[in-house]
Amino acid sequence: MIAAEILISQAFAVQDQFLSLSEVDALILAAEQRRQQGEFCDAKIGVGASLHKDSAIRGDSTCWITEPKFAAEVALLEAFEQLRLRLNSNAYLGLFELELHYARYAPGSSYARHVDQPHGPRHNQRRVSLALYLNAWWRPGFGGELRFFESKGGYRDVDPIAGRLVCFLTEGREHAVMPALAPRLSISGWFRVRN
Ligand code: OGA
Ligand code: MN
Repeated sequence: MIAAEILISQAFAVQDQFLSLSEVDALILAAEQRRQQGEFCDAKIGVGASLHKDSAIRGDSTCWITEPKFAAEVALLEAFEQLRLRLNSNAYLGLFELELHYARYAPGSSYARHVDQPHGPRHNQRRVSLALYLNAWWRPGFGGELRFFESKGGYRDVDPIAGRLVCFLTEGREHAVMPALAPRLSISGWFRVRN
């Protein structure tokens, strides 16, 4: 399990097999059903009146995990609740709420370098970012890495392997999603504080 100390002291924390492959499969199915119900929308950038789609910057489509939830989504929320409680008791982060969406990138699409705290209302409440990968097809060379930029220059890549959870402190952490050879499916989440 991701130790709070690792998350606090290093750039990011990675936990493999946060989900089993059968749990991943169930979430892939849930995402596909939501997609067939028309719940995925092209992600937009900007804020308020300037909100717009720019697939050169951000190419995913997203779907918030809202009611009614599939059983696999309920189970995932329970697992994230345990993580929230552990982060609070080990690192006093005061995390209060979780927002969670699926993100699907068509082959070749990406998300340019960014931080997860745009200027919109409540985004400054994000404290911990989560990325959970649902790519059962993934093999070395297939791309789709999560790229973390280092303050001294250079970067570190994390492969989007099925069942892997990546966790990082949201504030100021610059990262990007690299293009993949196949559709790239993940769940992005943020633990928020109240202010
Ligand atoms: C995001 C994001 C990373 C990933 O949704 O803001 O940066 O690896 N996702 O999917
Ligand atoms: Mn991000």
